[in-house]
This record gives sequence, C-alpha cells and structure tokens, in this order.
Amino acid sequence: MAAVPTPSTYSAITLTVNGEQYALPVDHRTTLLDALREHLDLTGTKKGCDQGQCGACTVLLDGRRTVSCLQLAVAAEGRAITTIEGLADGDQLHPVQQAFLDLDGYQCGYCTPGQICSALGVIEEHAAGWPSAATADVRPEAGPPPLTPEEIRERMSGNLCRCGAYVSIVQAVAQAAQAQGQEQGQTQARTDKVKEAAA
Ligand code: FES
Ligand code: FES
Repeated sequence: MAAVPTPSTYSAITLTVNGEQYALPVDHRTTLLDALREHLDLTGTKKGCDQGQCGACTVLLDGRRTVSCLQLAVAAEGRAITTIEGLADGDQLHPVQQAFLDLDGYQCGYCTPGQICSALGVIEEHAAGWPSAATADVRPEAGPPPLTPEEIRERMSGNLCRCGAYVSIVQAVAQAAQAQGQEQGQTQARTDKVKEAAA
C-alpha cells in the first residue's frame, strides 16, 4: 500500500520588509515577529509578552499598526511591512524618532521601537479623522479632534512601558504630530502657490 504523504508544515514565502524582498521558508506557525527577528535578523522589533498585550512588537502592515506576535508570517506575504529599521533615511532620523530622542521618550529603550511604530500609526489615524474612545464628538463632520494628551494616551494605550516613560512619550508624539502637520501645511501651501501661478 502506498505511503500517505505527510503534509508539509513549511511554505516558501516572500516578505516585503522596508521595501526589500526576502524569500524564506517558514513553518506555518511562525509569527511575523519571529520571522523578522529569527529569520531576517531584524531585531529592532522587540518581543515582550508574545501574546498581544504589551505592544513591544508593533510594526506597520500596509501602513497600519499591528502587533506582529499575533500575525502569522504566511499571512503577511504580499503586504508592505515597515519596521523600526525602515524609518530613518540614512543618518536622518524619521521625525517621530527625532521627537523621541529630543524629548527623552524612553529610558531602557526596550518598548521604544514599538512605541515609535505605534506613534506613526496614531498620527496617520488621527489625520484621517478616526475617533478614539477619548473623542468627545465622533460625528464625521466634527473632523479630527485636537490631538490632546488625553487623545494620545488613549491611542497609545496598547503600548506599555515598564520604565514608565509615558509623560515624555506623550510629549514626543505631540511634537511629531505637530511637525508632520506643519510639513503637510507647507506642502499644501506650496501646491496652492503652484496652482495659483498656473491659473
Ligand atoms: S510581544 Fe507582541 S504584544 Fe507583546
Ligand atoms: S523605555 Fe523601558 S520599557 Fe519603555
């Protein structure tokens, strides 16, 4: 009688991380966090609880934050994965990284990559008008609420910091959001000027 083939628990997948493509064989049970750290040596993404409760492993998937310890690597194929290693432009830190540095938004630094990736998500979500549990007026016509410390604390509440650097983290997120808003405002002003000149 012919032997019944044992189903393989491995697949060859290609992950797109920080714009680079990586081909790797993974056990289907491998989390995205383990694939990044153990297979690709991208150890900037940290493992804290490994069960979705601390936020240390936060990365961006297609621009949206996610805890990579609860994502299977095979499910991340075909999606744009951004980790802390992909934020700086050479020696030029990303504005969110710079804000954390300027305002001491860390102590031991273990939670910091996850905090920074999460902050990027927060800034985008807020700019897109997404409400949070701290938003008083959630009607779409009310527009994005002011990014108050209360809003930032609520939106960053999935990222724990055992050093308790929360006060500085909130300030850093506020500064980065402000810098990004100003940059977008300047870009819009330049675009408007070009449009005016062309009219
Ligand atoms: S390690 Fe993923 S949430 Fe804690
Ligand atoms: S800076 Fe140490 S855990 Fe957050």
